[in-house]
Amino acid sequence: MDVIEAILTRHSVRDFSSRPVPEETVMKILEAALRSPSGGNSQPWEVFVAAGATLERIRKVYQERSQSGTGAPAGPPPLPAKYQERMAMIRNERLRLLGLDPADPASGMVFAEWQARIFGAQVVVVVCMDKALPASKSLDIGTFVQTICLAAQGCGVDSFIAGMLVSQPDVLRQELEIPEDLDIVIGIALGYPEPDSIINTYRSPRRPIREVVRYKI
Ligand SMILES: Cc1cc2nc3c(=O)[nH]c(=O)nc-3n(C[C@H](O)[C@H](O)[C@H](O)COP(=O)(O)O)c2cc1C
Repeated sequence: MDVIEAILTRHSVRDFSSRPVPEETVMKILEAALRSPSGGNSQPWEVFVAAGATLERIRKVYQERSQSGTGAPAGPPPLPAKYQERMAMIRNERLRLLGLDPADPASGMVFAEWQARIFGAQVVVVVCMDKALPASKSLDIGTFVQTICLAAQGCGVDSFIAGMLVSQPDVLRQELEIPEDLDIVIGIALGYPEPDSIINTYRSPRRPIREVVRYKI
């Protein structure tokens, strides 16, 4: 697969099958991602992988907390309207695809349920960064995370970057032995899609190139 094909075919898979991803494949993906660029080659990423019985224990706690209504993460601060509109658009489009009414407040519960079951993922990569580093170093984390997704794509493995995956940091710290001096930045689920899942057919839109790019000669 060439790079453009990998970029164009990558999308967020939100319903993974139970087919496991071999440890060698995960390590191959992560080893490729270690080639990501970073400011001053500082390589500020620290990676913890949850799979197998460890991930099942994490999943159990996520589900228990979801059912008991505890452990809901603090929501992000409100964004300016145009960004909220883009976020609402994908939410509503995904709900409609599932045959649900976006105007019904209860319809959003479907996402909470998926989140609680960690989207069925068989592998979750948790990317952390030293708390002593400035927030600007999270740019490096961004390059690393996208490289993981593209490397996965090249290996025939789908991915899903999500803050939701790390919504219960205390559980991840305990199970993955993540030291307190590291911030848990983001999670990436890796795996194979559930074949008949309609949500996996969703493709998010993009702004038109001429709106985004100002090209001056
Ligand atoms: C940093 C980051 C955090 C994200 N967090 C979530 C999340 O918590 N829940 C979710 O459903 N999707 C999350 N996403 C996925 C985005 O919604 C998704 O990438 C975007 O809608 C574009 O769709 P695509 O990945 O299918 O191209 C996140 C993506 C990124 C890059």
